[in-house]
Amino acid sequence: MALEAGKGLSSQSSSSRMGFAPLPLRRRKSLGVSNGSRVTMMAADVVDKPKKGSKEIAKDTLLTPRFYTTDFDEMERMFNTEMNKNLNEAEFEALAAEFKTDYNQVHFVRNPEFKAAAEKLQGPLRQIFVEFLERSCTAEFSGFLLYKELGRRLKKTNPVVAEIFTLMSRDEARHAGFLNKGLSDFNLALDLGFLTKARKYTFFKPQFIFYATYLSEKIGYWRYITIYRHLKTNPEYQCYPIFKYFENWCQDENRHGDFFSALLKAQPQFLNDWQAKLWSRFFCLSVYVTMYLNDVQRTAFYEGIGLDTRKFDMHVIIETNKTTARIFPAVLDVENPVFQEKLENLVTLNKKLIAIGESKAPEALKSLQKVPVITSFVTELLAMYLMRPVDSGSLDFVDVEPQVVY
Ligand SMILES: [Fe+2]
Ligand SMILES: [Fe+2]
Repeated sequence: MALEAGKGLSSQSSSSRMGFAPLPLRRRKSLGVSNGSRVTMMAADVVDKPKKGSKEIAKDTLLTPRFYTTDFDEMERMFNTEMNKNLNEAEFEALAAEFKTDYNQVHFVRNPEFKAAAEKLQGPLRQIFVEFLERSCTAEFSGFLLYKELGRRLKKTNPVVAEIFTLMSRDEARHAGFLNKGLSDFNLALDLGFLTKARKYTFFKPQFIFYATYLSEKIGYWRYITIYRHLKTNPEYQCYPIFKYFENWCQDENRHGDFFSALLKAQPQFLNDWQAKLWSRFFCLSVYVTMYLNDVQRTAFYEGIGLDTRKFDMHVIIETNKTTARIFPAVLDVENPVFQEKLENLVTLNKKLIAIGESKAPEALKSLQKVPVITSFVTELLAMYLMRPVDSGSLDFVDVEPQVVY
């Protein structure tokens, strides 16, 4: 899964001015072990409390990366080849073969540059980096948990699809492990075993898992590749070596997205009617707005690596939207200047909500103060949702091949 899949809108933790939402970080040593291809992540290593020395888990907010669960019985029915004749087994077998090739088997190998670079990062930028690693690790780990469970549950019904999920969970474990190892450069580690148990799981029915995960993988691809290309052209901002790994890393996310594209095609009911169009637009809006609100609150991070946050986000949104238009039956008109104007209005309203949340006023008064702001927020969102959409991909659009850059 990608950097920040995210879901939902609104305010967030008051733990710092940056709005950081710290997770159960502990001083050294990580659960995720990243050592080239042999990365393992012990999801079953469940504990009652964060390991000794960990920070308390922070309050979850609507903008923190989420953990998902779904209706696994419905998933089993959907991938039963007897029941679903739309399953293109040859396509899934080809995808499975590609995943088995494991292009990035030896990609995620660390070197001494990491620790040295982390030591040079001091002051506010250091804290921002820690938060970036923390959030990214959580998002990747969330993908690992979901895919691993899907791999397990679909084994009997559809071994090929199950195998792909398991291989994708391998990739996500590797990504999360690599990020967690990055935290060790800052003498911290995420207690992933605790996180597995302590986090609330958001339930999405399979249809919504497909939309949300497809978008999350593709947006992750565009985020990684954009940062990678930017730092390649502007090496003076290359302040931590993890970004050098993004070129191959993002190809994993791209492949994951292509797999979800194949899954969606096998469920034409999710793509071919007016409800599918409405849901597609809803998920696009939800994912884009969440990312924008999250990132604008963290401009220091993007500026720290020489990016203009808003330009970066708009580029990612536009490109993701173009990619998504190949498969979703409708997408948003994100290139319309009104869309960005409204995004900015949401930023202002979100700031107001945070300020109210952080004020010392009594809770009842705060709730009252929030009402008009939330009303405006919802009105803006609705206006964005109702903007004339862009009709896009359909099942007739057969040119949705995995885009492998090797
Ligand atoms: Fe990933
Ligand atoms: Fe992924």
